[in-house]
Amino acid sequence: MTFEPAPGLAATPFWRNADVFGGEGADKVSRAARRYPLTEPGSIAAFDEGYAMLDATFGATGEIERYDTLAAWFSAGSLSAPDAPITAHYHMVVARDSESATNGIAGIRDCFVTVDRVNAVSLVLLSHSLVAPEHRRSGLGALLRHVPIALARRAAAAAGVEEPRILLFAEMEQVQPSDRPSVIRLLAYGKAGYRVIPPPILPFAQPDFREEVQHGPVPPQPLPVLAVIRQVGEETSTEIPVQRVETLVDHLLAVHRCHSRWDHLVPIREHALRALSAWGTAPVPLITLPTQPSDVGALAPLLRSVTFPLYPLTWQGSEPLKNPDDELAALIAAWSPTPEVP
Ligand SMILES: CC(C)(COP(=O)(O)OP(=O)(O)OC[C@H]1O[C@@H](n2cnc3c(N)ncnc32)[C@H](O)[C@@H]1OP(=O)(O)O)[C@@H](O)C(=O)NCCC(=O)NCCS
Repeated sequence: MTFEPAPGLAATPFWRNADVFGGEGADKVSRAARRYPLTEPGSIAAFDEGYAMLDATFGATGEIERYDTLAAWFSAGSLSAPDAPITAHYHMVVARDSESATNGIAGIRDCFVTVDRVNAVSLVLLSHSLVAPEHRRSGLGALLRHVPIALARRAAAAAGVEEPRILLFAEMEQVQPSDRPSVIRLLAYGKAGYRVIPPPILPFAQPDFREEVQHGPVPPQPLPVLAVIRQVGEETSTEIPVQRVETLVDHLLAVHRCHSRWDHLVPIREHALRALSAWGTAPVPLITLPTQPSDVGALAPLLRSVTFPLYPLTWQGSEPLKNPDDELAALIAAWSPTPEVP
């Protein structure tokens, strides 16, 4: 893929056009790369503007860390212990529309980038991405999925690692027929070279970030999540070595331990690794994501009714689980083209 990106992060040597996954659509990405410069906020006021935009979308559902938490990461860059074997940094990247007179924010991404210098591995925990409605399907979404690779290359280079193994990881919620965005996100990831580690092999969960849990008496209720991964440069591989899955759990916890209580992380780690260890040592086959609404049936193993029973009851929440066959039928019906009225 060759294109001339707008200045900003794309003008750095860490941006490689070849990292943009082919399935994203070369022409669309090329146009977006010229139109939307990607920059990092240079002040807490600029961070606040980005946080407010993310919070407006993700705050109501509790899908974003508290302001104080992310502001602390932003201000410090890293909250990792100086001698941590895996260091984590927080990044926010903002895309502005160079064709708009107001130069407003068209899209935003935030993420955590980890580096294990000794083993030459960098993982990006993709926290949030948001494309403003009027800029959707413009290629900007692809840029926001791509820029974490440039951040990983930059972080690795700063740690003295020239060619790191780069893993992109998203903690995604399960599929529900009534939740169209949950399906759209996975279709977009499917086009972008991502696959899913089967939930029975890695039943991962996100820590409970609520204030009353982290600093109060309320017991944690971890949130079951799908492990969505892109192995950069190995996107056609339909499997992942067990050792690499263990590595990515270590990297995820290296991030979460900086803003979550370790005693809350231990059960999450033990639950995930118990299942992985029961799998054995053979490479883990990855679930291929669909790229078209007509193929949403391929999301059957990722339905809430199928995955939630893999977790302790107290992590499953209070909403009753549907019958998996009924939930799959409802999903397919929800994404079937509406028949034309004769
Ligand atoms: C998720 C999000 C970032 C995707 O960005 P986008 O600009 O809307 O979509 P993309 O360009 O990335 O879409 C890539 C592919 O996903 C699929 N897709 C995207 N939106 C779709 C829709 N509404 N219906 C069906 N398929 C869709 C298509 O295959 C699309 O490729 P195409 O446009 O070439 O057909 C954006 O929709 C968004 O901000 N949503 C709200 C916040 C959110 O859910 N963030 C992600 C989780 S943190």
